Amino acid sequence: MSFDFTNQRVVVTGGANGIGLAAARLFASCGGQVCLLDLEREDPREVARSFGARGIPCDVTDLGSISEALAEAGVPDVLVANAGIGNPASLAETSKDLWDRTLAVNLSGIFHTIQKAAGLMKLRRRGAIVLTASTNSFDGEPDLTAYNASKAGLLGILHTVANELGPWGIRVNAVCPGLIRTRLTAKHFADEVLMRDYFRQIPLGRGGTAEEVANAVVFLASDMASYVTGAALLVDGGQMAAKFGPWSDEQSQFVEDHWELRR
Ligand SMILES: NC(=O)c1ccc[n+]([C@@H]2O[C@H](COP(=O)([O-])OP(=O)(O)OC[C@H]3O[C@@H](n4cnc5c(N)ncnc54)[C@H](O)[C@@H]3O)[C@@H](O)[C@H]2O)c1
Repeated sequence: MSFDFTNQRVVVTGGANGIGLAAARLFASCGGQVCLLDLEREDPREVARSFGARGIPCDVTDLGSISEALAEAGVPDVLVANAGIGNPASLAETSKDLWDRTLAVNLSGIFHTIQKAAGLMKLRRRGAIVLTASTNSFDGEPDLTAYNASKAGLLGILHTVANELGPWGIRVNAVCPGLIRTRLTAKHFADEVLMRDYFRQIPLGRGGTAEEVANAVVFLASDMASYVTGAALLVDGGQMAAKFGPWSDEQSQFVEDHWELRR
């Protein structure tokens, strides 16, 4: 039982940046043969080369592109279905294009990636799939109707696919990150007032890092999680456990990017 991925092929979508990249690097450092799939414009080959992995251009909204990328990567032992986008807009301002695009990447893209990969993985009767959902799978952060709908929909995929693939020895789990510092959330982390208010609600008093989510991804993919399937693991500093934030101005202070107790 270990985080040893020697001789295992690990495929990570959206692997050229953020959470996907942190996971890809961690799998590689645990001996995995990592293939990261991402849009051509993100230069997946170059990014992968920098840490001894393989990069394959792939657009998860295009079934042909997913099939070609998986044919080039080879049958995954581990699939991390992570590619995602998020653009805020109020209900009234959510255009058909934004709705369609968000669902195409975050929901249909993950569905088709899992469907194609699982078809190959079933032949081996073993493997692990981890998908990236969100705390927004569970609640309704404003101005993100399309994003939240896509992330809530992933739970339906998670539960159903875990059910179907269990007999084939394939475990399927999700990580549900809270607010994590990546380019997707750069605006949040550039705004001290927003961070102060947001992180006041979080028991650990801060945002998370891509590496902290990657740790959870690797755990769920590893044989340390051999009896875990169909689980949605929150990686959110306790945000979803907290009805009211624990940080008061009397007892605590906000320093740079986190809350801490006054001495
Ligand atoms: N950052 C957060 O706070 C946070 C919180 C919860 C969930 N998530 C989820 O984590 C995942 C990774 O997000 P991130 O924060 O690392 O953002 P990111 O923008 O740094 O990385 C996302 C990656 O997905 C790729 N991608 C986008 N569209 C694609 C497509 N059509 N085909 C292939 N690749 C595509 C991007 O090129 C990028 O490399 C997403 O699913 C996101 O919704 C992020």
